[in-house]
Amino acid sequence: MRPRPPQELADLLRQWSGSANPAVVDIGCGTGLSSTIWPEVTGVEPSAEMRAIAAGRGINVVDGTGEETGLPDGCADIVTVSHALHWFDAARAFPEITRILRPGGVLAAFDFDWPPAVDPEVDAAYREFEAAHTALEAERGLRPTFAPKSEHLRRLRDSGLFQHVNEVCLHMKETGGADRFVDFASSQGGVIALLEEGVSEDALGLTRLREVTARRMTDRSTWWWTCRVRLATR
Ligand SMILES: C[S@@+](CC[C@H](N)C(=O)[O-])C[C@H]1O[C@@H](n2cnc3c(N)ncnc32)[C@H](O)[C@@H]1O
Repeated sequence: MRPRPPQELADLLRQWSGSANPAVVDIGCGTGLSSTIWPEVTGVEPSAEMRAIAAGRGINVVDGTGEETGLPDGCADIVTVSHALHWFDAARAFPEITRILRPGGVLAAFDFDWPPAVDPEVDAAYREFEAAHTALEAERGLRPTFAPKSEHLRRLRDSGLFQHVNEVCLHMKETGGADRFVDFASSQGGVIALLEEGVSEDALGLTRLREVTARRMTDRSTWWWTCRVRLATR
């Protein structure tokens, strides 16, 4: 499971938006994991399955998308988008986000850098696995078409819709073992598709990743995460 965003993120966004008790909208909230740092939040999510899980977590969640939230003008002090902006059609979603933000309100689009820092050998094995699976996905036409996360900041700035755009990184740590690390790595859509097509774990670099993580990590290895937050003020 992806880590829960650090609680400091809520503190930063309260400060940045100037709202001690902000109205928050979390677009693409999925199962609601990204929404849980707020005492009150409205989730927006197109998948009925995800909405049901988020509702089970006590999140008030509505059927909508980044392009069409269905929410009123200026209703939000803060809009968060966690691990989802790359799926949005920016030409439609950015104006929609500015429509629901009040003037001076803040969009925070954040993603955790993957993988977390654990160990240099694990990191090197992960990079080999990443190079192998992305090359195979491209070769087999399995690469999903989404905007690279590295482009988020530039696209927000270039939209001309926001007064001020900047990126900050928050850090957090948690503990985890080799199995969870490999589960994380192999749960990506493209990797699942390749395994379903019969590509071997050896060819993907997964066998080596298993071997290196088992050797270098304990059940309580510290995972050092970077949460990359693009802040865009309306
Ligand atoms: C990787 S999940 C992230 C879920 C959650 N925000 C989190 O961080 O745990 C991406 C979510 O974006 C949703 N999504 C995909 N396209 C979307 C769109 N155009 N508008 C809003 N949500 C979208 C998916 O249904 C999925 O729930």
